[in-house]
Amino acid sequence: MLTGNQLRQKYIDFFVARGHKQIPSAPLVPENDPSTLFTGSGMQPMVPYLLGQPHPLGSRLVDSQKCFRAQDIEEVGDNRHDSFFEMLGNWSLGDYFKEAQLTWFYEFLTRELGLPREKLWVSVFGGDDVIPKDEEAINIWKNLGVSEDKIRPYDETKNWWSRAGIKSRMPVGEPGGPDSEVFYDFGADLHLHEKSRFKDQACHPNCDCGRFLEIGNSVFMTYRKTEHGFVPLEKKNIDFGGGLERTLAAANNDPDIFLTDLYTPVIRVLETQLSLDYTRPQDKYVLRIITDHLKAAVFLISDGVIPSNKTQGYFLRRLMRRAMVKAQKLTDRVFDYGQVIDAVVDIYQNAYPALSEKKDYIQKIVSDERDRFSQTLTRGLREFNKLSQIDGRIAFDLFQTYGFPLEVTMELATEKGQTVDKSQFEAEFKKHQDLSRTASKGMFKGGLEDHSETVTKYHTATHLLHKALRDILGTHVQQKGSNITSERLRFDFSHPAKLTPDQLQLIEDTINQKIAEDLPVTRQEMPKAKALAEGAMAFFPEKYPETTSVYTIGPLNDWYSKELCGGPHVASTGEIGKIKIVKEESAGAGVRRIYAKLDSH
Ligand code: ALA
Repeated sequence: MLTGNQLRQKYIDFFVARGHKQIPSAPLVPENDPSTLFTGSGMQPMVPYLLGQPHPLGSRLVDSQKCFRAQDIEEVGDNRHDSFFEMLGNWSLGDYFKEAQLTWFYEFLTRELGLPREKLWVSVFGGDDVIPKDEEAINIWKNLGVSEDKIRPYDETKNWWSRAGIKSRMPVGEPGGPDSEVFYDFGADLHLHEKSRFKDQACHPNCDCGRFLEIGNSVFMTYRKTEHGFVPLEKKNIDFGGGLERTLAAANNDPDIFLTDLYTPVIRVLETQLSLDYTRPQDKYVLRIITDHLKAAVFLISDGVIPSNKTQGYFLRRLMRRAMVKAQKLTDRVFDYGQVIDAVVDIYQNAYPALSEKKDYIQKIVSDERDRFSQTLTRGLREFNKLSQIDGRIAFDLFQTYGFPLEVTMELATEKGQTVDKSQFEAEFKKHQDLSRTASKGMFKGGLEDHSETVTKYHTATHLLHKALRDILGTHVQQKGSNITSERLRFDFSHPAKLTPDQLQLIEDTINQKIAEDLPVTRQEMPKAKALAEGAMAFFPEKYPETTSVYTIGPLNDWYSKELCGGPHVASTGEIGKIKIVKEESAGAGVRRIYAKLDSH
């Protein structure tokens, strides 16, 4: 049986032998991207490079990226869904394109892993009013020997890729393009046996019955969304993502990812502790959920998330409490999470050595949460028993206040002869999630709404404002927060007093003077230490990777401003036009807030 570690290594070696440089997995919490809570695909940390920034390691890259998809929590329980997974990734940044990508991936699957050709099916973008059918990909697949009946076209809901999904949902600035997925066929008999929405139709790769497992997706990143529709990217890119766990299941010809060695050691521990048996269907379901959730929790904690009621911590808490309720219900002993954590660390310690170093810390966070949960559970139950009616909103309150996962509330409610409106709970949950997302935007330096032209102008203007504030008010001025939308920039900074009208005028004039000088804006990649030594400003230096990008405004040998920053920025300050400060107010003790707008007059 192929192991997860072997597969990861084979994939990386295969692409390194074809001129790729290996890059490390980014953390599960995005470092410089306030638009999402978690890293949910391999391309996410690559967005600046897919949009045209040169990567310090060149134009061919390969990795295995840790991913967490909060939206998949509810799906876990079948043979193929998990909330935590690894995505094998290879990228061409304006280098090779469709032909090399599809040929190499097919070669990897059939020669390197020895998957039988007749078991591989592919899907391609079928075309619509905006973007034509991907005939080029169809021809490449045919030339590789894939028979016509195994090449299936689908619409944008299946074969278009961007972080936001279909074309109309893509924000301005977002890259995307048609894609081509490869599916492994586990055999027609599964179609008959598993419950499928499509069980009355002839089976097809996207049928969801369990017969087909998607193992890899080659995205042909061709376009960027602008205010005026799609424009071709200057350089076309390949963004490939393959599920490590799913590819391993295919290589071992077993449709259950939980039977690969990336899960079985954890399942063994749980079976012993909870007296369960994975071969029994009712046990299988609960074992998959507990295994997935605790594994995800270990990785999230290791990447700095702690359980809370907000943003990332909120999802971690939800995962942990859901697993805890299920585990605790099955045993009267105190469940030993230590053994589970050990098993997860053992599986991954070669690929992610930091897990071993953080084991004690992870253990502590998990046991603290377990204690907190058991206290709130007792208190919550008391409150719960006082209620005569449980609607979806109350169910959400119970979740928020006492950490009762929805499933638990439903089971309790059933005992009382009541039902809980799940869609109402979900509506509340979604509201909260949107709030969490909005809140998280403001948390990061340079929280940008999108990468549109206007937001980009405001972003460069923010650097000018920052510098002007420090020159005029003093170097005690430090950035405390930044939030930019297409309507305005908002900048928080430390300063003890209200700004006078004269000071505000001087700051505005200084910024407009620097705009009028049309100073060049230059991006450089350099070691963080070098950037800091050169005087670059960075108020969350620990947030930046060791090799980081630095934006300089003004000539490189006589610069005006220099900051560690992920971009994007205008090419020269003249593009901004003119800035007007529209408001100055307090934003807490010792912190002032300035709002400024582009001045169109
Ligand atoms: N970014 C592509 C995906 O996640 C490869 O499917």
